[in-house]
Amino acid sequence: MLAIIGGSGFYTPGDDFELEEQFGPATAYGETSADVLRGRWRGAGILFLPRHGPGHRIPPHLVNYRANLRALADAGATRIVAVNAVGGISDDMPPLTLATPDQIIDYSSGRAHSFSDGSGDSVLHVDFTHPYSERLRAAIAAAARRAGQSLVTDGTYACTNGPRLETAAEVRRLARDGCSMVGMTGMPEAALARELDIDYASLALVVNWAAGVRADHISMPEILQNLEQGVARVRAVLGALVEDNLP
Ligand code: HPA
Repeated sequence: MLAIIGGSGFYTPGDDFELEEQFGPATAYGETSADVLRGRWRGAGILFLPRHGPGHRIPPHLVNYRANLRALADAGATRIVAVNAVGGISDDMPPLTLATPDQIIDYSSGRAHSFSDGSGDSVLHVDFTHPYSERLRAAIAAAARRAGQSLVTDGTYACTNGPRLETAAEVRRLARDGCSMVGMTGMPEAALARELDIDYASLALVVNWAAGVRADHISMPEILQNLEQGVARVRAVLGALVEDNLP
């Protein structure tokens, strides 16, 4: 079953989502950000979980990524599309761009980033050469075409720790490293999905130019306005994706 992890500004699949069941927040790894919702959207059965919890109370570095991924797997998720708000670094990433990145560099720290925590019997060294599912990225690209939404079909996602935004020098370093966008929630989510053998891809929405790329400072009202506008585009792509009724 397809699961959607909602990011900033994306707290429900849509008004036309029909809730069928919800799973409580307790897992062996602690509590999920919110209850996992199972229901029907545009004719398909889907799971939904808002990463930052109700009312956006959980900052990126305090999200319980392991609980979220464990709960989605237990609820039957075989594919996950993660919605991520990002800052644009490369020229092809102005605000309101949608992208499905193909690579990640993890600059975050201090997050419980693996199910291999010494408590089980085997250590997982998962292959992470291609961190996102190519199949799911292709399905997202096809859905974007059908929905008439332009989409950048590759790019490297830099995951910083937050919650503060970056310095201009940090963003210059990310650009030198080859990153085209920067967000705070891509990791360890993607790696945990791989450990659970769940197909995972990101649908990233650019809500600002990253620090120092164009303007001298980042304006929060502008981010919020772009989020509000961009979420309609995210919803259009996801709607087209679920209408495909992926197994
Ligand atoms: N940096 C990090 N995370 C973000 C940004 C940014 O500029 N914009 C939205 N999420």
